[in-house]
Amino acid sequence: MATPHDLDATDPLNGFRDRFVIDDDLVAYLDGNSLGRLPKATQERLAAFVREEWGGRLIRGWTESWVDLPVTVGDELGAALLGAAAGQTVIADSTSVNLYKLLHAAAGVRPGRDEIVIDATNFPTDRYLVESVARARGMTVRWVTPDLVDNVTVEVLRPALGERTAVVLLSHVDYRSGTLLDLASLTAEVHAAGGVVIWDLCHSAGVVEIELDALEVDFAVGCTYKYVNAGPGAPAFAYVAERHLAAAEQPIAGWWSAADLFAMSDTYESSPTIRRLLSGTPPVAGILAVQQGVRLIAEAGVEQIRAKSEALTAYAIELLDEAGLEIVTPREPALRGSHVTVRHPDARRLAEEMVERGVVPDFREPDLIRLGLSPLTTSFAEAAAGIAVLVGLAE
Ligand SMILES: Cc1ncc(COP(=O)(O)O)c(C=O)c1O
Repeated sequence: MATPHDLDATDPLNGFRDRFVIDDDLVAYLDGNSLGRLPKATQERLAAFVREEWGGRLIRGWTESWVDLPVTVGDELGAALLGAAAGQTVIADSTSVNLYKLLHAAAGVRPGRDEIVIDATNFPTDRYLVESVARARGMTVRWVTPDLVDNVTVEVLRPALGERTAVVLLSHVDYRSGTLLDLASLTAEVHAAGGVVIWDLCHSAGVVEIELDALEVDFAVGCTYKYVNAGPGAPAFAYVAERHLAAAEQPIAGWWSAADLFAMSDTYESSPTIRRLLSGTPPVAGILAVQQGVRLIAEAGVEQIRAKSEALTAYAIELLDEAGLEIVTPREPALRGSHVTVRHPDARRLAEEMVERGVVPDFREPDLIRLGLSPLTTSFAEAAAGIAVLVGLAE
C-alpha cells in the first residue's frame, strides 16, 4: 500500500489545504461532512464586508449590491456545482425551510395527484417535513423502506409510484451509510410515473458531479456548511427548473418573493423569476461566505474533487478493512459519496474517545461512526492518522 505521504505528494489538490484556516490542535478533522473548515478567503472577505460595506455603506449597501446576492450567488453555485443554467437557483434560508417551500411548490405543479413518496432512511428533517406538508395539503405519505446500504434503487422505488404520485423526495447521498443514489435513473423513473422529484443534495453538493439541467431534475435543495465550507448556519440553496418556475408557488410569500420588492403593494404578486423562492431579508454575510466557498470549488473543479474523494474513501476503506472493522458504506466508488461509516456496538464510546485524542468524527445513533473526508481539506496523512486512532481504540 502506498504511504499516505506518497499519496499526498501526488495529489493535485494538495495545495488547497493551505487555503483554509487550520490552526487547531487536532490530529484529524473527519467531520467536514457536518461542518466544513473555514477558507482563508472567507475570513478576509467577511472582515472586509463588516468594515467597508456594513460599517461604511450601511443601508446604501442594499441597493448598491446586496439585494441581488441571493440570485447572483445562486447562479454561481448553480453553474459550478449543480450543472444549472442561470435563473434557477437561489441562496436562502435553511435546507429545512427550502424543503418546506419546495414540497408545497412541487405538490402544486401536480394537481389531482395526492401522494408524496419518501424513503424511511431519509434525513429526519426531510421525513418530518413530508409528513407535515402532506397533512397540511390533505395528501398521503407513501413510504419506501430500503436497506440502509443499498438504499433507494429504481427497483425499490418503482412499486411505490403510480397515478397518485405527485412528488418524490430523495437524498442524493444517504447521511448515514454514505450511499450515492443514481440521480439519473431515479429521476427518469419518477417522471415515467408522471410525478416530480425533489433532490436533497446536502451531502453531495460540492463533492459529487451533479447535472440538474441535463438530467431534467425538477427541484433541489442543499446546504452550504458541509462541502461548500460556508460556515455554521450558512444559508442553503434551492433550485427550481425553469419549466416549473411559472407554476411553482411557495407558501412563505413575503416581500422578497414579490414581483416588486420596493413597491410595497397592497396585493401580493409573485416575482416571475427565481426570486419567488425568497421570503424575507437575506443573510448577506452568510451569502458572501457561500460565494467564497463556491469559488474555491470552481477553482479546484468538481471533477478533480470527486476523483480525490473516491481515492480518499477507497484509502479509508482499505485501512478499516485491514483492521477488521465493519463498514456500512458501499465498496463500489460510484455508489458512495465522501464519507465512510463504521458500525460498532461501542460506537458512542469510541467516538467520544476519538475526540479526547484529537480526532473528530461524528456519531450517529445507534451504532455508527461517520468519517467525513473533504477533498479540499483532508489529506491522506490526516485520514490515516485519524483512522489509526479509531483502530487502536476499537482493538
Ligand atoms: C441530508 C440532509 N438534509 C437536510 C438537513 C437539514 O439541514 P438544515 O438543518 O440546514 O435545515 C441536513 C443537515 O445536516 C442533511 O444532512
